[in-house]
Amino acid sequence: MLAAEQRIRLSRGDITTLEVDAIVNAANSSLLGGGGVDGAIHRAAGPELLAECRTIGGCPAGEARLTRGYRLPASYVIHTVGPVWHGGKAGEQEKLRSCYRSCLAIAQSRNFQSVAFPAIATGIYGFPRQQAAGIAVATASSHLAANEFPSLVVFVCFDPAMLETYQAVLGRDA
Ligand code: APR
Repeated sequence: MLAAEQRIRLSRGDITTLEVDAIVNAANSSLLGGGGVDGAIHRAAGPELLAECRTIGGCPAGEARLTRGYRLPASYVIHTVGPVWHGGKAGEQEKLRSCYRSCLAIAQSRNFQSVAFPAIATGIYGFPRQQAAGIAVATASSHLAANEFPSLVVFVCFDPAMLETYQAVLGRDA
């Protein structure tokens, strides 16, 4: 098994274009779509995704649910619901950690090779980017150190500033 560090990759761009086993959706608890990456994933996957989401009946913050990817190049979508940022004293950090853990647990249980994450909760939900990236990398690193699957975790950065944030957290130069 490769070291955790070697199984984490950074990607700049639109998560809906990635041909991986699963992409993670930063959804809301209804799982019925929204803006941001949620909107992009539903647009790219097509109406069957919403139809399957309707059968799930929602998802609490910190948990994750699996659906197929339909018209996406990714085979599956792992929907997770991040914490809305309320200043950092309402357990937001632990809730975000739980999002990453829940998604990785699904990937492991399904023996997924590759899983791509957006920067969960850092958009509409307002979680500070640096802190969120630190939680994402730390949680993924500890999962990968103890588990064979997924074999690859990709953090997808939608803008250059987010890429620099992840690079700084990973101690990787540009
Ligand atoms: N590919 C990759 N990353 C993206 C994309 C995309 N196509 N679109 C947006 N992002 C990035 C944003 O730049 C941000 O860094 O995803 C990150 C998460 O931002 P949001 O999509 O706003 O998600 P979040 O902050 O978790 O808020 C969730 O927004 O869309 C609604 O229904 C969703 O209510 C929920 C809330």
